[in-house]
Amino acid sequence: MIQISAPAKVNLTLRVLGKRPDGYHALESVMQQLTLADTLTFDDAPPGEVRFTCSDPSLETEDNLVVRAARLMQAACPVPRGVAIHLTKYIPKQAGLGGGSSDAAATLAALNEFWEIRLPLDELTDLAAQLGSDVPFFLSGPCAVVRGRGESMTPVIHTTPCHVVLAKPSAGLSTPLVYSQLHAGPLTSTREQFLPETHAMLAAIKSGSVDAIAAAMVNDLEGPALTLMPGLMRLRERMLEEGCLSVLLCGSGSALCGLCADSETASHAARDLTNDFPWVWAGAWQQFR
Ligand code: C5P
Repeated sequence: MIQISAPAKVNLTLRVLGKRPDGYHALESVMQQLTLADTLTFDDAPPGEVRFTCSDPSLETEDNLVVRAARLMQAACPVPRGVAIHLTKYIPKQAGLGGGSSDAAATLAALNEFWEIRLPLDELTDLAAQLGSDVPFFLSGPCAVVRGRGESMTPVIHTTPCHVVLAKPSAGLSTPLVYSQLHAGPLTSTREQFLPETHAMLAAIKSGSVDAIAAAMVNDLEGPALTLMPGLMRLRERMLEEGCLSVLLCGSGSALCGLCADSETASHAARDLTNDFPWVWAGAWQQFR
């Protein structure tokens, strides 16, 4: 039996560069994993079978990314083995925290070990990209500059600790809907260099200053998400009142991420915010291991 954790992420920056001919948007984003994580266990099952159970029974479907990842692995590298996977969810869905993508990446990485396939990272990354734009990042991490549709990655190695509080309203946001509200123009050029916003965030992380990191946070999907869910504005104000230095939409939402000066502020904010939000979490960035 193998047990593995699948961390959530936040986008410290997310700039959309334009719409690609394949309908996806070209991005540049500094992504950072959190200590918040789902857990997955992998156990034996009869050859060829993929059994899947989840702490949230509404997620026990054939199109769950965990099942799709296992089937993709089976198709790419046939082995006379089966697997029984159990997923315990802690990361909320439709939050922009990458829970489903992280579960998929964890499944690829775990089955590579459990079924003794030993695919190299670049081949696992190719499979990950077939499952979703954010999946490759979770095979690497804990911090990276992600570009293109999500497949191009530059690891960022740092030891800057950072405390965050996350809060999500009961309604989620659909990623395709948020992207469609952007009305982005076609991608006209590709650039070698990082964007100024990326450089600013990397410098802030390197400096270790939480204030500088807070000032460098940006998310192009926040405008469209606020149009679709105007109530998020009030929730953001509440988080700022609780002492967050900066509050930004997580990915395509609907969770908000507040950066805090220390763990006490984050825990205190989380306690107070439980009156306003159905789901609140306080914790930290995942550290480089
Ligand atoms: O790749 P994934 O399945 O996670 O993407 C979900 C949806 O989000 C896509 O169908 C697309 O509408 C949108 N998306 C996008 N550009 C990206 C990532 C996602 O337009 N880079």
